[in-house]
Amino acid sequence: MSRKQRILVIDDDPSLVKMIGLILHRAGYEVAAAESGVEGLNKLTELKPDLVILDRMMPLMDGLEVVRRIRANPATAQLPIMMLSALGRVDDKVDGFQAGVDDYVAKPVEPKELMARTRALLIRSQYSRPPAAKTVAIVGAKGGVGTTSVALNLAMALAKQEKAVALVELKGYGGDVRYHLKLKGGQDLGPLLELDASQIKRPEIERRLIHHSSGLHLLLAPQYGGERRLTVGHIEAVLDVLTSRMSYVILDVPPLVGNGIRRALELSDQILLVTEPETLSVTCALDQVERMKEWGVFDRLNVVIVSRGPSASWLNRVEVENRLGMGGGEAQAAARWEPRALEVGVRLRQGVAGVIPPGPELFHESVRNGVPIILIEPSAPAARALFDLAEWLVEGDQPAPKKETESVKYIIT
Ligand SMILES: Nc1ncnc2c1ncn2[C@@H]1O[C@H](COP(=O)(O)OP(=O)(O)OP(=O)(O)O)[C@@H](O)[C@H]1O
Ligand SMILES: [Mg+2]
Repeated sequence: MSRKQRILVIDDDPSLVKMIGLILHRAGYEVAAAESGVEGLNKLTELKPDLVILDRMMPLMDGLEVVRRIRANPATAQLPIMMLSALGRVDDKVDGFQAGVDDYVAKPVEPKELMARTRALLIRSQYSRPPAAKTVAIVGAKGGVGTTSVALNLAMALAKQEKAVALVELKGYGGDVRYHLKLKGGQDLGPLLELDASQIKRPEIERRLIHHSSGLHLLLAPQYGGERRLTVGHIEAVLDVLTSRMSYVILDVPPLVGNGIRRALELSDQILLVTEPETLSVTCALDQVERMKEWGVFDRLNVVIVSRGPSASWLNRVEVENRLGMGGGEAQAAARWEPRALEVGVRLRQGVAGVIPPGPELFHESVRNGVPIILIEPSAPAARALFDLAEWLVEGDQPAPKKETESVKYIIT
């Protein structure tokens, strides 16, 4: 259910705050107030407003400075700001726009006009708001097939592109990403499991998040979970917070069990099922595919093959697809049109999205040093395959190229 849009009014004149608050409240908005710039800035993180209405002339910190600080903070840089001011000369307005306001309204203002401008700003900002993170679930066909290795290297490859990426180990216990990265224990999502899901907000998650030197953000599973369980509510809360501030959230998901995992897949934009190219893994993978069909998430599924060592009995890519019902004619049936793809006329085919070749020495080296393989030897075949997989994900996320339009010259009279 979408919440009411929230507007923060920052003005040192209580009577004006009250009046504006009343008008906005009547129009169906949720209104919060701050009496100074500093108080307003402090309230931003907690309230996450959709719009700020800001007085210009205030003691201590004036409105222009508040605007500059809002713009300088990546978490609030996109926030729509309307400045209200008794200073209504052209130069005053230009100062406001230079500081970064989206609208500048000279006082006195008619309530009708204030409302119209508020609505226009809120509607416009919905279109320009950056989309929430893309959530990608990496699921193992069974244990030990290389799921964590794929998830970690993929997340790292995306983080290397300067994207905000979080890797979440989606388990109540038994996390081993820390060993892949040689991290000390202690900071994991264990304490979140003690909380009721409704108590899990941004600060609780921030406290558990590890900021790795590579730029990657990590939310790790505890070693030992005791009686605590990762519930549907916990998963929803974690994803709600992380998707609002990351561009990619990569989930390291154990082989499908329970409602929590089901919910995670429902909330994912893309699912990558990891399997080894041998009969037992692929048979388990088929079980997972069947369950994903039951759960209504098959449409976003692709497969990643991890070959950990050479073997004459390996299945090839086509054989794996056929066994999973994603090959031949069935692949056609499984192929889907995405709205974005439609525009460029590309059909996204479901099936094997990547094959990671063996790199036994390299993976051994990686775990020994606590450094993912794509950082140790980016040109190794396994690393290149993981970079390609990251590229495939990013490409699927690009908007269709715009058609060339004739440039139009406007004349301001
Ligand atoms: N392409 C590869 N070539 C060689 N070794 C690999 C490859 N990919 C992963 N490995 C190694 O295989 C082992 C298992 O990998 P990983 O921990 O990623 O699997 P997993 O599916 O996450 O296991 P679990 O079910 O225990 O979580 C690790 O030692 C890893 O270094
Ligand atoms: Mg694992």
